Amino acid sequence: MKIAVLPGDGIGPEVTAAALRVLDALALPGVTLFEGDVGGVAYERHGLPLPAETLEIARTADAVLFGAVGDRRYDSLPRDLRPEQAILGLRRELGLFANLRPAAGWPGLEDLSPLRPELARGIDLLVVRELTGDVYFGAKGERTSDSGERQGWDEMSYGEAEVRRIAHTAFRAAQSRRGRLTSVDKANVLETSRLWREVVSQVAGEYPEVRTEHMYVDNAAMQLVRSPGQFDVILTGNLFGDILSDQASACVGSIGLLPSASLGERRTEYGAFGLYEPIHGSAPDIAGRGLANPLAAILSLAMLLRHSLGRDTDAGRVERAVARVLASGVRGADLGGDAGTDAIADAVVQELGETD
Ligand code: IPM
Ligand code: MG
Repeated sequence: MKIAVLPGDGIGPEVTAAALRVLDALALPGVTLFEGDVGGVAYERHGLPLPAETLEIARTADAVLFGAVGDRRYDSLPRDLRPEQAILGLRRELGLFANLRPAAGWPGLEDLSPLRPELARGIDLLVVRELTGDVYFGAKGERTSDSGERQGWDEMSYGEAEVRRIAHTAFRAAQSRRGRLTSVDKANVLETSRLWREVVSQVAGEYPEVRTEHMYVDNAAMQLVRSPGQFDVILTGNLFGDILSDQASACVGSIGLLPSASLGERRTEYGAFGLYEPIHGSAPDIAGRGLANPLAAILSLAMLLRHSLGRDTDAGRVERAVARVLASGVRGADLGGDAGTDAIADAVVQELGETD
C-alpha cells in the first residue's frame, strides 16, 4: 500500500506528522510512504508549487495524505506560482472530482459552537462538493473595457456529465445515510445552476428512496445556521461547496476537526484512489509552534484507511480513539484548551492501544 505524503506549508507538516504517528501505531503490514514537496515549500525548493516529481509520487500511490498549502508570503506571486495552485493542480491532474466533507457535532463540544448547543448537537451532514469544475477551473483573465478600465473575469460553467457524476456520488452517499439530499445552486440567476438543477432532478429519478430538494445557496447559508439539523447530504458545486463547508465546520465548533476526502474514478487494488486533507488550511499564524490541533489530519487518515485502503476496521478504531480523546477533555487551543499537537497525538495513540 503506497501512500504519498505531501505535508506542504504552515501547520501542514505538524499535523501530517501527527497523523503519521497514528498510522505507525496501527502497525499495518505493507505500508510504504513516499514524501513530496507541495505549495510554498515546493516553490522555494523547485520554483513551482506542484513539481512534476510530486505529481508523479501522487499518481503512482494508492492514496495521498495532504497537509495544507498557502502563506501570505506568496500572495504577490503570479497566480500560477501561488501555493494554492498545488492543491488545485492535484485535484485536476488526478481527476479528483468528488470532495466529501463530513461535519457532525461531537458530544461535549456543543458549547464551542457559535450556535445554540441544541442546534450544534443536531448537526450530522455531509457536503458533497464538485471539485474539478465551476468557476475554479474556467477560463479567467484580465481585460480592458472599452472605457479603458481593467476588469478581472472568470468563466463559470458546468457540463451535464460533470453534474451527473457528482450527483451520483451524492445520491449514493444519501442512500447509505439518512436518505435526504439537498442540492444547492443559484438557479434563479445563473445558467450554470439552471442546468445543474435539471441534471440533478434527472438523476434523482434513479434514486426514488432518496428525498431530494433544491435550495438556493443564499437560503442554504441561512438554513445552515438556523436549523443545521435539517441537512443530511448537501450536493453542490465547487465555489458554493468551498464556502458552505467552512460555514458547516464553524457550526460544529471548530474547523480544526473536519477531515475531507477527494475521490475520482480510479480504483486501486484496495479501494478508491483519493487525496485526504484537513479542511483547515495552513494557518501560518500558529505554524511551527506545536499548537495546531491535528485531529482533522488524523480523521483524514481514517478516511484514507476506509476509502483507499479498504481498512474499515482500522478507520473505525481511529475515529473512536479521537472521540474518546475529545470526551476525556484533551483540547487544542482551537477548542479552548491548551493541549499542543504532540499531546493530542499522544492521547490518540494511547487510546488506540485501549481495547474498544
Ligand atoms: C479548500 C481550500 C481551497 C479551495 C484553496 C486552498 C484553493 O479553501 O480546500 O476548501 O478553495 O478549494
Ligand atoms: Mg475552502
